[in-house]
Amino acid sequence: MKKHDVAGKKPAQGAPKKGALSAAEQLGLREGQSLELLKALHILTREGAINQDSRRKLKQVNHLLQFIEPLLAKVRDAKGSVTLVDHGAGKSYLGFMLYDLFFKSTQDQSAGKVIGVEVRDELVLRSRELAAQFGFKGMEFLNLSVAASNAALPASIDIVTALHACDTATDDAMAFALSHHAQHLVLVPCCQAEVAGALKAGKSSALQNNPLVELWRRPLHTREFGSQLTNVLRCLQLEAHGYEVTVTELVGWEHSMKNELIVASKGKPHSKASGQRLSAMLDQLGLNEMRSRFFTPLLEKEAV
Ligand SMILES: C[S@@+](CC[C@H](N)C(=O)[O-])C[C@H]1O[C@@H](n2cnc3c(N)ncnc32)[C@H](O)[C@@H]1O
Repeated sequence: MKKHDVAGKKPAQGAPKKGALSAAEQLGLREGQSLELLKALHILTREGAINQDSRRKLKQVNHLLQFIEPLLAKVRDAKGSVTLVDHGAGKSYLGFMLYDLFFKSTQDQSAGKVIGVEVRDELVLRSRELAAQFGFKGMEFLNLSVAASNAALPASIDIVTALHACDTATDDAMAFALSHHAQHLVLVPCCQAEVAGALKAGKSSALQNNPLVELWRRPLHTREFGSQLTNVLRCLQLEAHGYEVTVTELVGWEHSMKNELIVASKGKPHSKASGQRLSAMLDQLGLNEMRSRFFTPLLEKEAV
């Protein structure tokens, strides 16, 4: 992989030319963003070099931060502190870079917390070490599945993020956010196979009576339609629970097919219409078995 020396190396001759970009500027870093942290996260090499993959990752996470920081600021302005839970945190690039930019400056633990939830213990251990190394006292890492973290975390959480959390981990993160009354959700879903599986299971009966089955009759379409449908159902579910939802493309995520960014903010009444539409879609697509996954206030009431 081609390396670009952009940081930490002296220019070959003398001082940098007047007007030349600094290493941080060349990397497109924000003011105050730590080069040392990026090295510890292996986004930069020890010498401050970066390869194409890491450059892309850095650009993507920095881009995502632009959506999350205003939400953090809004909550902190209103409450004085803010707690964010990042589900399926992986190496916690997002959590560390958020902490570095938003929380670090106060160094006041009452200003808030970033909590990473991740099933792979080696990643959790590494993240804990890194947080200790950088003195990021408001960071915590739980070695738990998203579903198991429900009971382990406080009853109220302000912001929930899930960035490419695998398969149904995004749905679990949504259920977590709903039960913890999260004010905001920021989701970049990964592939989800559950709905596609249910579509596949119901295909032969749908072939008898539903011309829309053509949308998912062929296996590739089953997967793609299942994936899109999952996100549509997620949005309706969030609206039904009183969230305002925006769906955009996460620019800078070119290397991934999974670049749908769902941002949801609470503040509207529960939408009965969205709950009814969700229910009707499940009905018409033969997905009644998915009702517990896409639970809504309306469906809960109906079930009583
Ligand atoms: C594709 S990685 C994304 C990591 C990180 N969010 C990022 O974007 O760099 C997905 C991560 O989610 C974790 N994961 C998958 N299912 C999970 C679950 N049910 N609960 C918690 N973590 C999960 C995996 O171990 C993996 O580290």
